[in-house]
Amino acid sequence: MLQVLRRLGGPRATMQDWPGLIEAYRSWLPVSAATPVITLREGATPLIPAPVIGERVGRGVKVFLKYDGLNPTGSFKDRGMTMAISKAREEGSEAVICASTGNTSAAAAAYARRGGMRAFVLIPDGYVAQGKLAQALLYGAEVLAVKGNFDRALAIVREVADRYPVTLVNSVNPYRLQGQKTAAFEVVDALGDAPDWLCIPVGNAGNISAYWMGFQEYRAAGHSARLPRMMGFQAAGAAPMVLGHPVDQPDTIATAIRIGNPVNRDNALRAQRESQGSFMAVTDAEILEAYKLLGRGEGVFCEPASAASVAGLLKRREEVPAGATVVCVLTGNGLKDPATAIEHNDSTFHTGLEPDTDIVARVMGF
Ligand code: F0G
Repeated sequence: MLQVLRRLGGPRATMQDWPGLIEAYRSWLPVSAATPVITLREGATPLIPAPVIGERVGRGVKVFLKYDGLNPTGSFKDRGMTMAISKAREEGSEAVICASTGNTSAAAAAYARRGGMRAFVLIPDGYVAQGKLAQALLYGAEVLAVKGNFDRALAIVREVADRYPVTLVNSVNPYRLQGQKTAAFEVVDALGDAPDWLCIPVGNAGNISAYWMGFQEYRAAGHSARLPRMMGFQAAGAAPMVLGHPVDQPDTIATAIRIGNPVNRDNALRAQRESQGSFMAVTDAEILEAYKLLGRGEGVFCEPASAASVAGLLKRREEVPAGATVVCVLTGNGLKDPATAIEHNDSTFHTGLEPDTDIVARVMGF
């Protein structure tokens, strides 16, 4: 990041000079002088050391969290959306549409409105975390909740975009992955090389494909000496990449990755093959354990789907080479899904206390 900032703003550049990822990585992206850059200054998210998780893995393994929940709308989707919306605007589009488990809809809504476009979002009725729905509504999207899962909603928006003058901004739109690949650039910029393992949650399989593209491009340009193994983790009840076939009724507490038929399946399989990586399922119980460990152990609040990356690393810890560097991608902010945090935590919560110092002190154990 610092290298990028200095290149753009000189030796005294500060984070305030961060221009958003299109300007930061312009030469790597399919934009031109004619592209109106629609940005909320996304990107430049921190790579946070995770010593407690590292300790659990053992053997001197160094673990880092790529905390993409700190993007402007709270998820990695902003990386893809700044590109998809800027290109839609460049092409004269007046409306965009997406299907979403929540985060894509929040990002599409924010960037589309900022670009002066209408945003239509289809969500699976009843299966979108509250914070994400709140965002889509507040940003001014036109929200359509359909009685069906994400896969069905995606099939519908693809047809709508084929027939009517609206631009599809799901990750079948190639500009999305172009924007998202910048997260791999940032990881390499921060570490000075690619990590040994990249652990990442997989839903529609766009992000793992984008990271792989980013790592390959940076390596080809000599910015890194190696490539990571791409380790994709799915929820056990929604694990088509692991099973090798679509899942009709995907089910998991991690609603963001409640997807049975990933559109980027082939790209993700290529990433796995070329990187000697793998796909594995983690149970909802394992996801929740990792989610709580991230909060209590590291002070990092992510959403349940994001914790699948850490759950997967812990599950496969014995295979990590001693002394290796591992990056777990935390795709979304924990504040997206307050209900899950309130229901699943190991904290004590004393309610209804009389407003009295002695009573408070006694409850504290004094
Ligand atoms: N993590 C979070 C928090 C997500 O929202 C998603 C996908 C993923 C991981 C998986 O990424 O689909 O590229 O494999 N969310 C989409 C949405 C489907 O509609 O917000 P992927």
